[in-house]
Amino acid sequence: MTLSHDAFAPTDRELCVPVLKTDRLLLRAPRRGDAKAIARLANERRIAVNTARIPHPYGLSDAEQFVAAVNRRDGEAAFLITLDGAPIGLCSIDPREDGPEIGYWIGVPYWGQGYATEAARAVIGYAFGTLQYAALQAGARVNNPASRRVLEKCGFQWTGVRLIRVRAINSAAPTDRFRLDRGLWESLRSWGRVSEVA
Ligand SMILES: CC(C)(COP(=O)(O)OP(=O)(O)OC[C@H]1O[C@@H](n2cnc3c(N)ncnc32)[C@H](O)[C@@H]1OP(=O)(O)O)[C@@H](O)C(=O)NCCC(=O)NCCS
Repeated sequence: MTLSHDAFAPTDRELCVPVLKTDRLLLRAPRRGDAKAIARLANERRIAVNTARIPHPYGLSDAEQFVAAVNRRDGEAAFLITLDGAPIGLCSIDPREDGPEIGYWIGVPYWGQGYATEAARAVIGYAFGTLQYAALQAGARVNNPASRRVLEKCGFQWTGVRLIRVRAINSAAPTDRFRLDRGLWESLRSWGRVSEVA
């Protein structure tokens, strides 16, 4: 018997998050074969300094470790954002002690085309629908107006400012905090047209 290993074949664990389809994007679990593309996109200081945990520089082994560890915890849901089959970023729900938190980044060549908002809305729908979360939180560094705008376009409400540790700068940075309740999201979801296809 020969065993073949298809780097793109989903494992059981990957099947724990569905495939979400939006007007332009397909969101699915990150797989081993995506590590190279993730490393290429995420190895960008402007991404690292605006997220809590992405180191800079970010190499292939960082991406491989990320893919190996992701989507293992109950309530965690990390989606690779793809456009015409090509990875362009990530959007995830992180279950934390103080409540689930949404996070996202988009590769620089794809900024400014509404992809973060489109992906975040799909993942929010999944978090409030399938995962049945009652509320989500999010953060954006105070000098990150693009991320703040994404959150506003998804209905998030500002709740205050906190110092959050940012790995890439090895320091804490003031971060605007936001919250979105399921009730508010349901009243806003006329943007719709997200479907789980698997
Ligand atoms: C933040 C980020 C995800 C946005 O991705 P994107 O696909 O460009 O976002 P969208 O196109 O959906 O929306 C961006 C919005 O911010 C606005 N924006 C962009 N730069 C801005 C600036 N300097 N000042 C004010 N608004 C700005 C855009 O005009 C757009 O709003 P609009 O649709 O009302 O015009 C992307 O820049 C990124 O990955 N940054 C680094 C990582 C990060 O910040 N992650 C979020 C922290 S959890």
